Amino acid sequence: MKTLHIQGKWGDSAIHVGERLANVGAYLPNQPLVIITDENIKTLYGHAFPKGPVISIGTGEQIKTLATVEYILTRLVDLRCDRSCFILGIGGGIVCDITGFVASIFLRGVDFGFVSTSLLSQVDASLGGKNGVNLSAFKNMVGVFNQPGFVICDLEMLKTLPQDEISNGLAEIVKHALIADADLLAFIEKNQEKALKLDPLIILHLVSDSVAIKSRVVQQDEHETGERRKLNFGHTIGHAIEKIDPCGHGRAVSRGMAAAAVFSMKKGWISSREVDRIFALLQGLGLPTDLHYDAAKIMDAAGRDKKKQGHFLHYVFLEAMGCARVEKISFDALNGFIRSVFNTAF
Ligand code: GLY
Repeated sequence: MKTLHIQGKWGDSAIHVGERLANVGAYLPNQPLVIITDENIKTLYGHAFPKGPVISIGTGEQIKTLATVEYILTRLVDLRCDRSCFILGIGGGIVCDITGFVASIFLRGVDFGFVSTSLLSQVDASLGGKNGVNLSAFKNMVGVFNQPGFVICDLEMLKTLPQDEISNGLAEIVKHALIADADLLAFIEKNQEKALKLDPLIILHLVSDSVAIKSRVVQQDEHETGERRKLNFGHTIGHAIEKIDPCGHGRAVSRGMAAAAVFSMKKGWISSREVDRIFALLQGLGLPTDLHYDAAKIMDAAGRDKKKQGHFLHYVFLEAMGCARVEKISFDALNGFIRSVFNTAF
């Protein structure tokens, strides 16, 4: 097991990679416990949950809404929870995002932690302190910054994930390598088959290196005014794709990273061989790199990005393999690029 820390504005968040759900009791404070989970996780792992009332929600991005938040808040009131309660989210990114948001607004904030059960949430969604929900098709439009007291990344729980979900999580691991760690990139290239088969030592290495990179970045810039923007590599176009095609976050980000790699090459920062290397790695991990979408729809969705600032946005390029570079660019420049690589024949 490896433990990493994020020192947030309101307290420390300890991330335990390789710890087990069965041991969560050792991390729980002596406070009344409420568990938030989803139906799948409850069915598969409910027998190993610590003792306490369980609030179960459905699955899928469509339930990450204010309506679900209201449902949970009402249940908390029904359970007569007060400020001394501790809320434990056990699940993937959706459960963790909703749990963190609910815990941050219920009675103006109660303590919370996560047992993170999917690869995507272990390397991304459960750490960093952003907790939010969607507003219609717009991802994470409503939310807060608030660090969980702890995150347990139980690698054994990954074994019940479908293969597509493993690939989705690997997309965010590749992102961390591309923006910050050329050695990790070479390690993934060398161990792709083993990663896809969840070889325990390889997965421990990938998850803990990824958590270390994200923790380091968030520690420097919790509220995303500078360095943290690098974590959005592949996400400007990735989120636009996700809005028009619910193909899964990792798969959309994979296409977004493919586009960002080409954009970085057009800027002269990386070579066509390096773009080929990125495409080959993503494809080897079962991830898509095609950009077969209507350029007009991508431009429209990108233009509504919540991170835009007037006619500009901060776009994340690669300056080199393992090194990101954030540039403020105009929407005109982004749209010009989108028109040059996406389909305009729809
Ligand atoms: N909770 C995800 C993040 O903070 O990036």
